[in-house]
Amino acid sequence: MFQRWLRKPDLVGPVTISSRDFASESVPDGGDVRVFDNEPALRINRARLAAIEAVGLDLTSRRVLDVGSGPGHFVDFYRSRGCDVTAIEGRPEIVSEFRRRHPDVPIYAGNVERFDFSALGRFDIVHCFGLLYHLENPIAALRNLFDACAGVLLLETIVLDAEEPLLALADEPKTVNQALGGIAIRPSRAFVAMALNRVGFRHVYGLSRPPSHEDFQVDWLNDRRSERDGHPIRSIFVASHHALMQPALRPLLS
Ligand SMILES: C[S@@+](CC[C@H](N)C(=O)[O-])C[C@H]1O[C@@H](n2cnc3c(N)ncnc32)[C@H](O)[C@@H]1O
Repeated sequence: MFQRWLRKPDLVGPVTISSRDFASESVPDGGDVRVFDNEPALRINRARLAAIEAVGLDLTSRRVLDVGSGPGHFVDFYRSRGCDVTAIEGRPEIVSEFRRRHPDVPIYAGNVERFDFSALGRFDIVHCFGLLYHLENPIAALRNLFDACAGVLLLETIVLDAEEPLLALADEPKTVNQALGGIAIRPSRAFVAMALNRVGFRHVYGLSRPPSHEDFQVDWLNDRRSERDGHPIRSIFVASHHALMQPALRPLLS
């Protein structure tokens, strides 16, 4: 007791962050455009799209904005349903790859956090898979997506297993499917639901039957982790201006 009283308190507190210089890093081996086409990427995309299809939303002949599109793995899904697809992607080299694969689909190079969507008009479906957790400023991006969305936002993201509306900051490598500037966030589900509502979406839902893929099959433990058993924890959210009646959707707002 006496010794504790004598010890000088550490007023700075423990901080254990290693220094990093992202600008001097190079793309790691295997971190080029091929990363979009490996079997794990194709498998999770099949599971994500099957789950979206199972919700029963009207996905025919819609105007679709694919945000953080990568090389365009979702284009065929929408175009086979008569949709008119526009894409936005933050990396110029991935925009070129998208154009090579889908020469007749308009794509814009830009950072979704500050891109001015107003010239593009509004979209029935804003499709944003695998992007939110790579952003530095997720609320700025969600405000942009709200402005661009006339109907429904389909949002898939890695999430933090926490009951409170939290963000954790994360380092990411220079791999071309990761954060543009090397830092990103992991949002809790409560954060995503709250942010979607506060930027303007009146209705926010989760899927009562998540995709058949281990990343989405989660026992929620509130342990503030965004990966478990060697794989990330993911969720899909559906945000809308109007109430949706599909039984596969579970409201997340009270
Ligand atoms: C994990 S990949 C997902 C690609 C695709 N949506 C999918 O699920 O297959 C993330 C994509 O978002 C792009 N990206 C990252 N940060 C971005 C930003 N701030 N604005 C626009 N695109 C971004 C990356 O270049 C990459 O192509």
